[in-house]
Amino acid sequence: MRAAFRLAAVAAAIAASASVHAQGQPPLKVGLMLPYTGTYAALGNMIENGFRLYVQEQGGKLAGREIQYFKVDDESDPSKATDNVNKLIKRDNVDVLVGTVHSGVALAMAKAAKDNNTLLIIPNAGADAITGPLCAPNIFRSSFSNWQPGYAMGIVAGQRGHKRAMTITWNYAAGAETVKGFAEGFAKSGGTVVKDLNLPFPNVEFQALLTEIAAQKPDAVYAFFAGGGAVKFVKDYDAAGLRKTIPLYGPGFLTDGTLEAQGASAQGLLTTLHYADNLDTPRNNAFRKSFALTYKANADVYAVQGYDAAQLLSAGLTAVKGDTSQRQQMLYAMGKTVINSPRGKFAMSAAHNPVQDIYLREAKGVNNEYREVAVKQLADPAKGCKM
Ligand code: BEZ
Repeated sequence: MRAAFRLAAVAAAIAASASVHAQGQPPLKVGLMLPYTGTYAALGNMIENGFRLYVQEQGGKLAGREIQYFKVDDESDPSKATDNVNKLIKRDNVDVLVGTVHSGVALAMAKAAKDNNTLLIIPNAGADAITGPLCAPNIFRSSFSNWQPGYAMGIVAGQRGHKRAMTITWNYAAGAETVKGFAEGFAKSGGTVVKDLNLPFPNVEFQALLTEIAAQKPDAVYAFFAGGGAVKFVKDYDAAGLRKTIPLYGPGFLTDGTLEAQGASAQGLLTTLHYADNLDTPRNNAFRKSFALTYKANADVYAVQGYDAAQLLSAGLTAVKGDTSQRQQMLYAMGKTVINSPRGKFAMSAAHNPVQDIYLREAKGVNNEYREVAVKQLADPAKGCKM
């Protein structure tokens, strides 16, 4: 009896010391570097909301640590990226950087994170190099590489019988790399890209390029645009009379978070992405309900990626009971975790990019509805990553 009492007392003391350990630590400083203005502003806000939602669901703490947020609007402007990220690293001295949306800005963040050995979690930007030649033990992505949805759409377009496609996008890393992925998948399933069209980011003067598409009459068009630019492009494509004659495809960013604004012009569009709004799983249903209750808005892929960035951070912190000085153990746990995401469970590749199912979706009403798995458990090739 006395022994049992002693055992219980020891167990209580251990539990109390673990909680004091986490409680004794200062708040964890999270630096959110996201676009809050410009064509990607809505994406940045959704990522932040998704991240905060997960933290809120854990009672406002991760592994016992309070979270203190620092925010910088990166404006999706690569020329300001180094100065902006240094505000968070050097001025605010954050423990972890979370950002961003635009690949060009993220490339500068990755360099700064490497130089300063700051933990970086990328909740969107797909720049292939970040989980390729620039990969690093302290850099993780909760989203995708630009190659992933592009490659999957190329496979699907070929399977649908298309032989000659044109591509159209903004002239920066995300556009170029998703188009390259599309061309690779399309070639593998029997098609050829006959012409690539592009315009500077974030320009939305599409008319001359649409005229060229109409003149060339390809079997299909593959387009990468996102946010405000995607809204305008899809509407312009329809207004030019092309939607009914030349099928338009894209990575899911073309219609994610944009369907309300795109209206009838987007209905029926097929896209590929690692998320579909109506995935009928308990995890996705609970997430969408919680997001809708908290923000009075529907979640989209960007919210999912922000939510999963917080889950990834939580996995690392939990492994070290909130003690970030146990750096190696924390990073190791982040690399080995399986995230129970609203998109479906996913693991990290050796280069720290999600290995995940890519879905074919169809735009219906205000949802991107699941049609089928386009490519199962697609891993980025991570060319040039040495870790
Ligand atoms: C990118 O720049 O990597 C990107 C931006 C918006 C949506 C998807 C990718």
